[in-house]
Order: sequence, then C-alpha cells, then structure tokens
Amino acid sequence: MSPDLVGLADVLLAKTRLGRPLRLLRETGSTNDDAKEGARDGAPHGALWVAETQTSGRGRQGRTWVSPAGENLLFSVLLRIPCPARRVPPLALVCGLAVRDAVAACLPDPSRVLVKWPNDVVVRHGEGWRKIAGILVESAVVGTKVEYIVVGIGLNVHTRVFPEGLEATSVALETERPVSRADLLGDVLERLDHDLEHAAHRGLGLMHGRLVAHDALRGRAVDVEGALGTGAGIDLDGRLLVESGGRVVPVASGEVSLRRAPRA
Ligand code: BTN
Repeated sequence: MSPDLVGLADVLLAKTRLGRPLRLLRETGSTNDDAKEGARDGAPHGALWVAETQTSGRGRQGRTWVSPAGENLLFSVLLRIPCPARRVPPLALVCGLAVRDAVAACLPDPSRVLVKWPNDVVVRHGEGWRKIAGILVESAVVGTKVEYIVVGIGLNVHTRVFPEGLEATSVALETERPVSRADLLGDVLERLDHDLEHAAHRGLGLMHGRLVAHDALRGRAVDVEGALGTGAGIDLDGRLLVESGGRVVPVASGEVSLRRAPRA
C-alpha cells in the first residue's frame, strides 16, 4: 500500500461513520463490482472498497476508467438506505458536490471546481474545463424500494500525465500543496455521510443552493445528445434544465458537451 493510504482506517474512524468495514485492495477488477458482491453477501451500510488499481474500472455509458497503480482514489461505498427508487439518480449530484467541496478545499482558488451534470467534477481551465473525478452510482431495487446503493468514485489525485486527448486533471496538477489520499478520502466520506441520507429521504432541497452555485453548465451553450440550448440550472429532481428558443426543457439523462462558438 502506498504511504499516503496508510492510516486510512484511523482517518475514517475519526471523521465518519462510513468506511467500516474497510477493504483495501492492491488490485481488483472494479470496486463497484466488489461492493455489489459484498451487498449480495450481506455487507453492512458504510462498507468501503478502496483499490490501488482496477483491471476493469467502469464509468457511465460503458466507458472504462483507467488509473495507474497507487496514484489516485478509486473506491466504492455501499449504502443501505431504504428510499424510493426515484431518489437514486440525483444522488450522483450529491456525491459530485461532496467531491467538489473536498477538492475545492485543497485548491488555491476553490471557485474553479464545479459539478458537471450528471456525474462529473471538473476544474475550470480558460473557457473550458478538465475532469478531475467521475461518479458511478448503481443500485438494486426490489419493487419500488431500493435494497442497496453503490457509490463508486474515481478521483485523480497524484497523476500528472494523462493520455493525449483526455481533458483531465488531478489535485497534484492544480495545487502545489501536498495532499494525502487518506485525508482526501476521509473528507469526501465525511461530506457524503452528512448529505446522502438526507437527500435519499427528502430530495435535493437542502443542497440545491450549493448545486446551483457550482453548476458547470449554467449559462453555457450545451449539446445534450444533439439537442442544442443553454444550461439553465438543475431542478429539484436533479434534471438538467436546458433553455432553447424561449422554452426550458428538463433533461433526465444523457451526455452533455459544450457547444463550440461558430467560426466567424
Ligand atoms: C464516469 O466518469 O463515468 C464514472 C467513473 C467512475 C469510476 C469509479 S473508479 C471506482 C469505481 N469502480 C469502478 O469500476 N468505477 C468507479
């Protein structure tokens, strides 16, 4: 285990109810798969899987999540919060806020760290941004009730070189300050512990103001799978609001990219 993860169990014990039991893995397929298997075997609320590297790390929409061994945070936490199934999709935004706030606390200019609907955390660079974290929320539903939720997070901490063409960044590239992965993970989990249960039972209301304040897409020209418009916020159900031709349309899911300004 790399030195900056040593002591993780103590950090978690001091900061949060999440992270027990803790499974620290040198290598695994996907921590989300480990957590789902754990859930099926009866692991309790708060169980945490942390890996130094993954051989089949997954993102949304069938994408892969690749991270060099020992550099970043790759983890999944199991939640047993019996809530209605409709409350699950917005939880990725709650996780995004937790990661955003934890990363922002490490950076000289916290205002550059934003939540990009529906599941990314990005850092503003000029007119665009670079992705620093991705979130994959998966759940098992029985009838209308959620049996368990797995929150998987990949957060770039120490990686300094990314494959060409990937608009990515890391905590190390954004600040001179040395950051320990154990402390950062403790901070993220503390924030998740604070917000997730509330959002699962009561919705986004309490966090909505923070979401609006750190919404990467607000006021930006966006392309949501071919539908063009301007980001007009996020509603209380976690849907992206897109304004186009004077109408505001809520979008529940999809891939968003920034629309480039047409050439003069
Ligand atoms: C995305 O950007 O689409 C989400 C990426 C989520 C990656 C994390 S890494 C830890 C956990 N295990 C996985 O296989 N995926 C998530």
